[in-house]
Amino acid sequence: MKLMVVGGGGREHAIIRSLKKNPQVTEIFALPGNGGIAADATCVNIGATDIEKIVAFAAENAVDYAVVAPDDPLVLGCVDALEEKGIPCFGPRANAAIIEGSKVFAKNLMKKYGIPTAAYEVFDDLDAALSYLETAPVPTVVKADGLALGKGVIIAATREEAKQAVRDMMQGHVFGASGDHVVIEEFLTGPEVSVLAFTDGKCVKPMVSSMDHKRIGDNDTGLNTGGMGTVAPNPYYTPAVARRCMEEIFLPTMDAMNAEGRTFKGCLYFGLMITPDGPKVIEYNCRFGDPETQVVLPLMESDLLTVMQAVTNGTLSETEVKFADKHACCVITASQGYPVKYRKGLPMTMTEEAAEHTYVAGARLQDGVLLTAGGRVTGTTAVADTLAEAVEEAYRLARGVEFEGAYRRSDIGRRALAANL
Ligand code: AMP
Ligand code: GLY
Repeated sequence: MKLMVVGGGGREHAIIRSLKKNPQVTEIFALPGNGGIAADATCVNIGATDIEKIVAFAAENAVDYAVVAPDDPLVLGCVDALEEKGIPCFGPRANAAIIEGSKVFAKNLMKKYGIPTAAYEVFDDLDAALSYLETAPVPTVVKADGLALGKGVIIAATREEAKQAVRDMMQGHVFGASGDHVVIEEFLTGPEVSVLAFTDGKCVKPMVSSMDHKRIGDNDTGLNTGGMGTVAPNPYYTPAVARRCMEEIFLPTMDAMNAEGRTFKGCLYFGLMITPDGPKVIEYNCRFGDPETQVVLPLMESDLLTVMQAVTNGTLSETEVKFADKHACCVITASQGYPVKYRKGLPMTMTEEAAEHTYVAGARLQDGVLLTAGGRVTGTTAVADTLAEAVEEAYRLARGVEFEGAYRRSDIGRRALAANL
């Protein structure tokens, strides 16, 4: 079987490594992939949002099955376009990917169907938003409507900060058209849990839970990033919480999307906060999370391709989705200065042992040499019987990834270890 994976980060590297385990797979194309992915797949220089070229490539190369991993091609209708050409795909169509593509859509969906989330108001008029903020409780959360590379969320401690965020989005257009509509919502508290779930629109099968570490600095300080490390499972996701999430959030979301004529097939990501009032949805993503995938897939015992095809065929209820009763930790190695300003093109090395456990997020190959090419460069994952061992081993392996200014948080997993539930 010839497969095609659209995307080129650490998440895609993890997906490709898992897909490769299926003996029926003869070739995997990565569009565009990256210099590290090139060790596991054939990289093709077509950008992940160049839908026309992606579809033409799949047709010309007789691709049997495609996986569209990143949010933007999903929101732009990459799956719809591939399906039109008769190419079976993993991922939601555009009319379902909107659950991530528009925060206003997601919030209105939750309100209409009684799915627990932060209370909110939507504004498309600057003056109305500013006058609402005169009396809104603080801290408050200001979100740009559309995709904003994970940066469109401002937690404002004061009304003045919130007003500035609204002005930046609606008047300064710092997130482009994403800021034409803003959501202002209640500030929630509690531990965060990420749950990725397979769904074919008929049933939901959650994967092992995970915990992201979004801030750049130790002890969750400094700027938000795409994610500096993950652990799985998340200790706050107890069996009791899991049951409530299934009943109050996962199944109602699937049913709501069906009722709206927007059946979601693919991986639905639930960003949850376990508040004193119970689990609530912070955000939906229409895809595998990054770097959650780098701890979730290494724990998956069922064959990924088989499960993905069951999602496509609507036979997920008959297909086993099993995870090892172990722990995983992924430590991101980033470029110095990330997420603001950082150098690219620095030569990097990985020990053989590190490379086996490392997913490459941002690197390119030049004359056989690997050069850094992004803010987040690699994610190194270890699996062990206990979380403490997984964390220690992930750090030991990650130290085998070297380049000038390589930066890692030093406390990935610490909060999970302290949770002691
Ligand atoms: P997002 O880009 O939607 O993942 O949001 C980034 C981060 O902002 C989340 O991981 C939360 O830590 C935080 N956040 C978003 N919405 C809220 C909220 N309503 N209350 C508290 N924190 C929030
Ligand atoms: N790790 C969060 C995300 O993938 O959006």
